[in-house]
Amino acid sequence: MSDVHPFDVAALTRPQFKALPPLSLYVHVPWCLRKCPYCDFNSHAWRGTDALPHDAYVDALIADLESALPSVWGRKVHTVFIGGGTPSLLPAASIERLLSAIRARVPLAPDAEVTLEANPGTFERGKFADFFAAGVNRLSLGIQSFDDRFLHALGRVHDATEARHAAEAALMIFGNVNLDLMFALPGQNVDDATRDVAAALAFAPPHLSFYQLTLEPNTLFHRFPPPLPDDEQAADIEEAVVDMLAHAGYVHYETSAHAKPSRECRHNLNYWRFGDYLGIGAGAHSKLSFADRIVRQLRWKHPQSYLDRAARGEPLQEQADVSRRDLPFEFMLNALRLSEGVPAALFAERTGMPLSIASRGIAEATRKGLLEPDPAVLKPTALGRRFLNDLQALFLTDAARKRATEPAVAGELVRLPAVP
Ligand SMILES: C[S@@+](CC[C@H](N)C(=O)[O-])C[C@H]1O[C@@H](n2cnc3c(N)ncnc32)[C@H](O)[C@@H]1O
Ligand code: SF4
Repeated sequence: MSDVHPFDVAALTRPQFKALPPLSLYVHVPWCLRKCPYCDFNSHAWRGTDALPHDAYVDALIADLESALPSVWGRKVHTVFIGGGTPSLLPAASIERLLSAIRARVPLAPDAEVTLEANPGTFERGKFADFFAAGVNRLSLGIQSFDDRFLHALGRVHDATEARHAAEAALMIFGNVNLDLMFALPGQNVDDATRDVAAALAFAPPHLSFYQLTLEPNTLFHRFPPPLPDDEQAADIEEAVVDMLAHAGYVHYETSAHAKPSRECRHNLNYWRFGDYLGIGAGAHSKLSFADRIVRQLRWKHPQSYLDRAARGEPLQEQADVSRRDLPFEFMLNALRLSEGVPAALFAERTGMPLSIASRGIAEATRKGLLEPDPAVLKPTALGRRFLNDLQALFLTDAARKRATEPAVAGELVRLPAVP
């Protein structure tokens, strides 16, 4: 007979939390003026001749939040991110109603960061001011490029002049602003990219995100690829962009994110530090910790299905516990994106499991020079940052590695019974 008590076995196989991680709230708005040909987000061009169903959507979001309250009962919300899609398509009054409803239902920290994503094609100065008055205190603006040639190649709905006007007004009204830009654009060279960086720096935003344009499956660009810079050219562009931003005083704190000191995006930092988030809205993902388990949820993805089902108090399409064997990879997938990494103790705090369950991956990553050998931190080396995918993959279990090569989108999620 085994001398291990069943209770101890359970302790080894289930997370045990002394304290739950910080909680963030994500709100997804699934509509855009037009679908960009490179974008695989859950975003749909609003083709209706009528106005967006903004009232019905805010009602659905509120019903969704109410149905989720038992899973986050009493927990303070530190950040709110209203993303999309293009949330700035909604009238400011809808954002105000949404934020009031959130404040009335969950304890929102007095200093909560409240971000809204906006597209310069929806820019109106008065509307931005009304978003701010409604309680939005950070604006994330999808600029992509300040060059009309590239905006055109990307199929954006706005031109460079509109991008400049939106950035100028955002900085004036919110102060706390992120500009999203992409690089390695069709036909782009290093000079083009550095001109874009210079144009962005002229606004001195506290935060800049620079994403390398990727060809995502199920997008128009994937089917009809534009002539993109090759890997070497893209690496040269990235090096030039990163150097310029560093010289201008921005800290490259995450793979694609650059911020003035202490101006990092608190909401995204919570994801990368494996914090909790409740995601409401069409197709939103959640990760929630309980005393002895971590749960992932997915809301109904299609806007109309979501509208119908959330209104009935049934917003969930899928829900599953995160298995113990997936925790090292899930944690490292996030934490190792951070240039400074995380304290090693955070692993146990955020997964509820001892760091020893990741020891094989840590040893191999250290041996390969991808992870710093300091036992107090989990921090990628310069080589690890460059080959981040390889570093993260060292934490996949054999079973997960096999699953990753299968065409599974739902991963470990269990499909809930379909609602008639
Ligand atoms: C969900 S979008 C939100 C912003 C807003 N919808 C807009 O585009 O103006 C977030 C950002 O993801 C980036 N992005 C989207 N698709 C991408 C892709 N295929 N490759 C790289 N970055 C991408 C863009 O920079 C975009 O601003
Ligand atoms: S506006 Fe933003 S979310 Fe909408 S399709 Fe374009 S990149 Fe995607």
